[in-house]
Amino acid sequence: MKHKFVLAIGIGLGIAFACAPYPKDVETNPAVKAQRFPKGSFDGVIKDNVEDMIDKGRQIFRFDTFGSEHFWGDKLKLHETIAGEKEGGIGPGLTPKQALQLGLKVDQGAVPATLLEVMKGGAVSLENPETTLELLRANAVVGVTGFFEKKRLRSIGIQCAFCHSTVDDSFARGIGRRLDGWPNRDLDVGAIVALAPNLKPMAELLKSDEATVRKVLKSWGPGKYDAELNQDGKAFRPDGKSAATVLPAAFGLAGVHLHTYTGWGSVTYWNAYVANTQMVGLGTFFDPRLKNETQFPIGAAAGFGDLRHAPDLVTEKLGALHFYQLAIPAPTPPKGFFNKDAANRGKDVFNGKAMCANCHVPPLFTEPGWPLHTPEEIGIDDFQANRSPEKRYRTTPLRGLFTRMKGGFYHDGRFATLDEVVKHYKTVLKFDLTEAEQSDLIEYLKSL
Ligand code: HEC
Ligand code: HEC
Repeated sequence: MKHKFVLAIGIGLGIAFACAPYPKDVETNPAVKAQRFPKGSFDGVIKDNVEDMIDKGRQIFRFDTFGSEHFWGDKLKLHETIAGEKEGGIGPGLTPKQALQLGLKVDQGAVPATLLEVMKGGAVSLENPETTLELLRANAVVGVTGFFEKKRLRSIGIQCAFCHSTVDDSFARGIGRRLDGWPNRDLDVGAIVALAPNLKPMAELLKSDEATVRKVLKSWGPGKYDAELNQDGKAFRPDGKSAATVLPAAFGLAGVHLHTYTGWGSVTYWNAYVANTQMVGLGTFFDPRLKNETQFPIGAAAGFGDLRHAPDLVTEKLGALHFYQLAIPAPTPPKGFFNKDAANRGKDVFNGKAMCANCHVPPLFTEPGWPLHTPEEIGIDDFQANRSPEKRYRTTPLRGLFTRMKGGFYHDGRFATLDEVVKHYKTVLKFDLTEAEQSDLIEYLKSL
């Protein structure tokens, strides 16, 4: 009885609310009425937007060149080496085998069924550069788009997926289904760019010569790229090693405040930076920090701090691209990759004695807030930090570490194994672990 009574009052009040602008002494923005939908609600609009943004973002991440073909193809003529003399280019052409050896990946899903069938039977030679052109025509080379005129490869552009996607090898090594956000630690970006017949535009920008640029490109090696070279011109560290960094994961980044190893900015900041200044797409980019001639002599002279192109082929894509980036979760490690019991014990070491969680705060595994640290805090040199505006290192989110086992850890891959990483922290953070604790901690890291 009592319940029914309360319900009746409730319904009565509900009707009263619907009829009168109750309560009378509260003023609301008349604009909200624009969001009263005959059916559904604004929630539905949001949900539709989610799907739309993901679809658009995925397309951009995988296939948008941002107009970069004006550089890689039209200027550097990279497509000519790929096509080979017989197909209107120069030299013998790039065979699929060579492309795969350079770490380029093939999206199995995009390879025409007939071609896949003959590849399966081994009837198609991976030694034939014409097959490379066929794969490009099918848009099956991950992160690379060939532009064809009639049958000729006319130009070539690159995408985000070039460095930040790989494949699961489900068909063969280097051929499989796409894994967006996974760093392609096989990809030899430098060796690929060095194939270009004309490196003059790069040499001019870097105020250097073609031979030196080629030498620098070849010094990077697989899984590495230098996203600051054309800002500061520093190709080598003081110890003579390459200044390139390893390709980072572009997954598991939702909730993370600053991006890149040195915290240049947010994901969308960096997307605009890369699309305009690294992929050499044609968009708009503004960052007055790059006008600092002492820190960024090359970028300042090139006007990278204030780039404008008309039409702008980047800006309208940033929203969906950002959205898609944040939607990519960190992958879970394969079965049997780590010992579960040991990992459970290692969690306590991580959060306790080893002090890892002071910076790698679970479950983000970076700091909520401002995740930057001085080189001294993590016990390493300041070379790479000093190439960034904040002159610090960003606490790397640790999820999906298993995708980064190849190429090493820390920004330049200086620690080949997790064991080396932990040994390093022992001396810097001054803690001691028994052998069992150390191995438990490593199993925990592998489980993330
Ligand atoms: C030629 C290779 C290459 C291409 C192409 C490329 N990136 Fe990157 N990306 C890198 C490297 C190297 C870094 C690390 C840079 C640093 O720390 O200085 C990076 C960093 C990032 C990060 C930061 C990851 C983190 O841990 O915070 C994101 C996000 C990212 N890239 C997204 C993109 C998107 C989106 C595109 C396309 C617009 C793109 N990248 C194109 C090589 C590339
Ligand atoms: C003072 C803050 C801080 C503490 C404490 C800390 N880290 Fe880090 N960690 C960082 C920073 C900053 C980086 C990035 C270094 C770089 O890229 O050069 C990093 C990078 C890493 C990486 C490399 C990730 C990659 O993909 O390259 C691993 C692994 C790691 N930390 C594990 C640990 C473990 C395990 C502990 C505890 C023993 C720990 N960290 C303690 C700040 C910290």
